[in-house]
Amino acid sequence: VAAEKNGYDHFMLKEIYEQPKAIRDTLAGRINGGVNLDEVLIDRQLLKEARNVTIVACGTAYHSGLVGKYTIENLARIPVEVDIASEFRYRNPLVDEKTLMVVVSQSGETADTLAALREAKSKGAKVFAITNVVGSSIAREADSVLYTLAGPEIAVASTKAYTTQLAAMNFLALALAEARGTLEKEKIQEIAEAMQALPAQIEKVLEQAEQVKAVSEAIKEWENLFFIGRSVDYAVAMEGSLKLKEISYIHAEAYAAGELKHGTLALITEGIPVISLATQEQVLDKTISNIQEVRARGAYIIAVAQEGNEEIGNYAEVVLTVPRTHPVLTPLLAVVPLQLLAYYTACVRGCDVDKPRNLAKSVTVE
Ligand code: G6P
Repeated sequence: VAAEKNGYDHFMLKEIYEQPKAIRDTLAGRINGGVNLDEVLIDRQLLKEARNVTIVACGTAYHSGLVGKYTIENLARIPVEVDIASEFRYRNPLVDEKTLMVVVSQSGETADTLAALREAKSKGAKVFAITNVVGSSIAREADSVLYTLAGPEIAVASTKAYTTQLAAMNFLALALAEARGTLEKEKIQEIAEAMQALPAQIEKVLEQAEQVKAVSEAIKEWENLFFIGRSVDYAVAMEGSLKLKEISYIHAEAYAAGELKHGTLALITEGIPVISLATQEQVLDKTISNIQEVRARGAYIIAVAQEGNEEIGNYAEVVLTVPRTHPVLTPLLAVVPLQLLAYYTACVRGCDVDKPRNLAKSVTVE
């Protein structure tokens, strides 16, 4: 088994470092000026005429759906609902033949996600699956499949599957935007080109591993902490929080930064770490004022911001940076320091990184 880890201490770290390749593979052949999803057999008529999109998944895959909602609504101007599979399947969901139903699953075998797919199909919806496993149950039962080409993911905590799911969401958003005429050709091309720069940009983010390690040392004694963010950064905050919980057993809560004052601010005490995502230019001032709010109450701020954001350094103890890209693509970069943070924190706390207690890689029973 040591050999399969390629010299890395854990599968999780190996898989974090495999992300540039995973994204490169997932993009290969699918970008040609715009997006080329011919292999996917996705119903063009439905792309054009769908009334709504419903994304259903569990765990990390669900978090990719939350990012997908921002991207699809933003680029394709179609309403998107995101639901947890175990909730969706039991609530007599409002889907029909006008719904583009999207299920996301790394393994393609998660019981609740598969049941949600069947429920949606029985109501007439066409199901588009995003999965990493060829021939999996979800791949077989969906009407069309977009494979993420992340390669086998062994660590229970999902990393490269998540970022490739985000790339798939971007493809779907661009395909919808193209079909519905909501984005000019040049805009689509611009985003597609920005996607191709992501693998090299992820490599740059990974160069900050030593800085992230230092942050792990700073947070390792805490049993509670917060992640905050606005807009799509809120969705990334949720994934960062889940990663940390799963493997380091530190309880983390992700909050929409603007919602803090409606309750959680009461939990901010001297020194508590608040990991603050601040990559979204259009809400940057608002996010900074939320950072100031928690800082004034003693919080220790670890910020994730875009390169060249000089201002953020005035309000944070540590700033981890991500290269600049199109705003809908920042999650693919911003999540990387959070994955590393979860990893190094779990290591310094002596946790079993690849096999956290009570968790399974694939949940095929209810
Ligand atoms: C399990 C795993 C998670 C994963 C979730 C959904 O809980 O531990 O890492 O996100 O299942 O799995 P799927 O294979 O459907 O993406």
